[in-house]
Formats: sequence, C-alpha cells, structure tokens
Amino acid sequence: MVVSADLAVRTLGPCRIDSPLAPRLGARETTQHSVVEEDRILFDDTLSMAGARGVPLEQLPSLEPGGPRKKIYFDPAKTRVGIVTCGGLCPGLNDVIRGLVLELSRHYGVRRIVGFRNGYRGFIPEFGEDVLDLTPEVVMHIDDEGGTILGTSRGKQDPEAIVDALERLNINILFVIGGDGTIRGAMDVVAEVERRGLKVAVVGIPKTIDNDIPYIDQSFGFQTAMSEATKSIHAASVEARSAPGGIGLVKLMGRHSGFIACYSTLAKDDADYVLIPEVPFTLDGEHGFLENLRHRVQERGHAVVVVAEGAGQEHVEGEEPGRDASGNVRFGDIGRLLRRKIVEHLDAHGVENNVRYFDPSYAIRSVPANPYDSAYCLRLAHAAVHAAMAGRTEVIVARRRRRFVHIPMALAVSRRNHVDPLGDLWMSVLEATGQPVRFG
Ligand code: F6P
Repeated sequence: MVVSADLAVRTLGPCRIDSPLAPRLGARETTQHSVVEEDRILFDDTLSMAGARGVPLEQLPSLEPGGPRKKIYFDPAKTRVGIVTCGGLCPGLNDVIRGLVLELSRHYGVRRIVGFRNGYRGFIPEFGEDVLDLTPEVVMHIDDEGGTILGTSRGKQDPEAIVDALERLNINILFVIGGDGTIRGAMDVVAEVERRGLKVAVVGIPKTIDNDIPYIDQSFGFQTAMSEATKSIHAASVEARSAPGGIGLVKLMGRHSGFIACYSTLAKDDADYVLIPEVPFTLDGEHGFLENLRHRVQERGHAVVVVAEGAGQEHVEGEEPGRDASGNVRFGDIGRLLRRKIVEHLDAHGVENNVRYFDPSYAIRSVPANPYDSAYCLRLAHAAVHAAMAGRTEVIVARRRRRFVHIPMALAVSRRNHVDPLGDLWMSVLEATGQPVRFG
C-alpha cells in the first residue's frame, strides 16, 4: 500500500529566487495551475480507499502538485540544462524535447541547453558522442517528425562517468526521457550527484508506448501508437472478410501489458479475440483457443485475432528468452506460433483457412505524435521545467487523474501498470469481442 512517505518529493533547497513566470501567475491564485505550495492532491480516489486508512483527512497520502512556482531554486541566467532520451522510440519524444527547450529559454530565460546523444552512452567519452546545442531555432519544427533528434539507446552506463560529464559541462538540471530502466538509471545518477555533494536536479518524463508506468493516467505516445495499431486491425479485418476461412492475425507490441492490444481493439471493434500477457490462455482442448476459433470460423466464415507480443509466452517453446540491453526479457514470437498452430488445427479438422498475418512492429511507434499526444507532451515538458527550476529532483512529472503531479522516481519504478483481468477495461474487451472469459 502506498503511504505518505512514498510520495515525499526531494528538493535541492529552499526556493529564494523570483520566478520570471510570477507576474503571469498573480491573478490566478486560486486555480489549479497556480500552485499553492501547501495544497496537495489526494492519492486515493474512492471513499472506501481513503476510509480504510483510518487517519484524519490531513494525514491521507497526497501528491505534490506540478506547475509553476512563484519562487524558484535555480537562477535562470546561471543555469545549464541537459536533456537525454533513452530506450525504445515513442511518438512525442521530439515534442517533449521541443517543449522543454522552448519553456526553458523563452519563459525562464535559460541560455545553455544541450542534448546528449543516443541515450546514456552520450555521456561516456569512449563512445565519442558530441553534444547538441539546443536552441528554439533548432527545435522549432522537430515535432513534425517521429523518433528523437537526439537519438536513443538502451542500457545502463556508469553513473560516475555520467556525473563526470555533468560536472565537465556545468550542468545543473538533467531531464531524462525514458521508461522504467531509464528512470532507474536516473536514480543512480541522483545517488552519485549526492555522494559528490552537487546541486543537480534530475527530473524524468516517463515514456513508453506500452503504458506500463504505474500511478499515471497514460504515458505520452500511447494514444498515437494505439491509433496506428488500429490500421493493422482494420487491414486484418478487411483481409479476413475477403477470403473463405479468412483469419486476420495481428501481433502488436506490449511486453508485459496489453494496453495497446486492448485499446486498439476497442477503437476498431473488429476483433473476435484479444490475447494479452495479463490473461493466460490454453491453446488446445475442447475449451482451448484453437477450438473456439474453429467454431467461430465455421459459423461466421472469418475471424480477427489480436495478440500482444508478451501474451502466451508459456506456449512458445524452444526459444531461450534472453535479455536486451535494458534488461528486458526478449520474448519468443507468439504471433508466428499462433499462425502455425491455427493453420495446423484448422487443417486437421478439414476447415478451409486463409491466415493473413500482420506484424506492424516498430511502425506503430516511429510516427509523429498525434495532436492529442503533442499537446500532452508539451504540457508534460512545461511541468518538468517548472519542477526542475523549483529544485525538485529524483521525480517524474506525470498526469494523474487529470492533474499534473510530481511522483518520486522510486515509486514510479516500484511496479508495472497492467490491464486488470477483473477490471472494466478487460470487461469492455470481452464485451466487444465476445470471446470467452477464459480459454481452457
Ligand atoms: O518499450 C516499448 C517497446 O516498444 C515494447 O513494446 C517492445 O517490446 C520494445 O519496446 C521493443 O524494443 P526494441 O526497441 O529494443 O526492439
């Protein structure tokens, strides 16, 4: 259970400098966006959750609100900022970089912002990466493109070497844009910064198309990625309906969490089956997936199956899982396995079948952000700048129940966000597809 101590935000010191944004805030004393420092955002969102804690109102766990402060910690004229993007691509990375640079330079008056190239390796001299000077002119139109102008990579690097680079460049604020592995890396950087007694703020903007960062409404880029995925589901449906015994099979990204598979399915409402990592399924037997699919194809003449890449790994034999540079398990290919099993099963029962296999893979995440995600990225970038200029460190900025908040990094990596097999999202998927509650 999350307690108040888990939500405590670390600061580098008292805020004594007037924020250049202060004149804009004056008239908005009572709105959500003009942060009243003493106010907090409740963590629990039901009466029963709050009631079960058995403590007075003021002791309920609460989050620090994001947003601009009237007083800040860093003197903008003397502040140097670094930005790094790490891990897999995600729509909106360039939007976040652009948002950070424009807010820092145009509103706070920060004059030196550099981008480290290709993830954490950009800090390490042996890789020979130069830094990129980031000005409003450089970033102005980068949001038109997918990817990240800084480049990215997976994997940890030595925190001592990273902090050496920060010291060499006199960096006071580091923004890290990445997923759970990146945030863990950032926590190591914070520990090294502290060991050296430095005053460097490290603020994260959480990124993953899988939407598996906990305690936040949604990660940026997720909506764009799931929208792209709907194109493959639609194509699979068209193919399936156009051939006798047509079966459109779509494999989508989603390592531990099936959010992309669920939401893209709901958006198209064309799929008959959705298989996700959170809900194990049986392939064989009278009540297994394959028999159910056979009946569906015989009754309706076609079917569409959406599978998240992390689903049904227990069925993928013979492939050693292994790990990528971020330490993530490399999964066996459930899509190819299902394609083979479906053909074998229907052939064995004399059912005509034409399986059309779609694996859009990276195509769903290498596109530019859609307008919703672009706006979200910009707002996250603003929140990150406000947090860092006010000396917050070892936090991510996030939107939780529509409010921008500061979440300690340790809490953000303490677990993963999953589709709840007993929750309303999965219920909607079951209603949309008509698939059984369980196979087997
Ligand atoms: O982390 C998001 C993600 O896109 C996953 O959905 C996918 O499994 C993985 O990254 C792919 O990683 P890589 O870029 O290393 O191939």
